[in-house]
Amino acid sequence: MLRLHSLHSSRCLTKSPVDKAPEVRSAGLVIAIDGPSGAGKSTVAHLLAERLGYLQIDTGAMYRAVAYLMHQAGVDTEDRDAVERFCRDIDIRLDRSDGFQRVFANGQEVTGHIRTPEMSLLTSRISALRPVREAMMQAQRRMGAQGGVVLEGRDIGTVVFPDADVKFFLSASAEERGKRRFMELVAKGEQVTLENTIMAVSLRDQQDSQRDLAPLKMAEDAIAIDSSGRTIEEVLDSMVMVCRNTTHTRN
Ligand code: DC
Repeated sequence: MLRLHSLHSSRCLTKSPVDKAPEVRSAGLVIAIDGPSGAGKSTVAHLLAERLGYLQIDTGAMYRAVAYLMHQAGVDTEDRDAVERFCRDIDIRLDRSDGFQRVFANGQEVTGHIRTPEMSLLTSRISALRPVREAMMQAQRRMGAQGGVVLEGRDIGTVVFPDADVKFFLSASAEERGKRRFMELVAKGEQVTLENTIMAVSLRDQQDSQRDLAPLKMAEDAIAIDSSGRTIEEVLDSMVMVCRNTTHTRN
């Protein structure tokens, strides 16, 4: 069984049906933020969740944790049965208690291992596998069922919560996203070059957008936001306004 916990949420293990949208979202809106890597989703999702008092779910971190576990266990990603068996028993925990996200997988903290360039590429590969996506989607639907949640990823507004109350699609040019990723990696002491980082970002975009299952694409009813050349505050303010208007209209 896949278990996903968040230390500041007690609603992650509800056994509600996961294959259809819940009718009542008593805790607030379901907000989807999709977009390519490096567009700033995690930062704005975190700040938006904070402003609204919502729970944030970083679905990319979930896929990264699965990739790390599979790598560690030496699972052959070409062996569908092995992948399926592996996905039946994964325990992922997200802890955001100090404003800093920590990720635990099968009892071990994996936070420091899941954001290397190698893990990024492996995650992009394993996230195209059906058993992995099924397991993650079900866990994400359970966690968001009651609302009051900001989910960030690639397929939230198209597949996981096609009936999300607010959908954003956040993007920026590949160069700008590559530059941001490069600065993050350098700050962490990774030996990378700007050119290679931009290339890796573009390669991941390609893998994520061209896969058969839940490819990265903008939902028809999503609000497109290009973060190139805009400050976080500008982007965040426009998002908060949309969410508050939606809440106001609903009440
Ligand atoms: O957001 P991120 O860069 O941490 O995501 C890591 C990888 O996980 C990314 O290459 C695509 C995959 N992913 C996905 O397929 N679906 C999601 N909802 C989130 C991430």
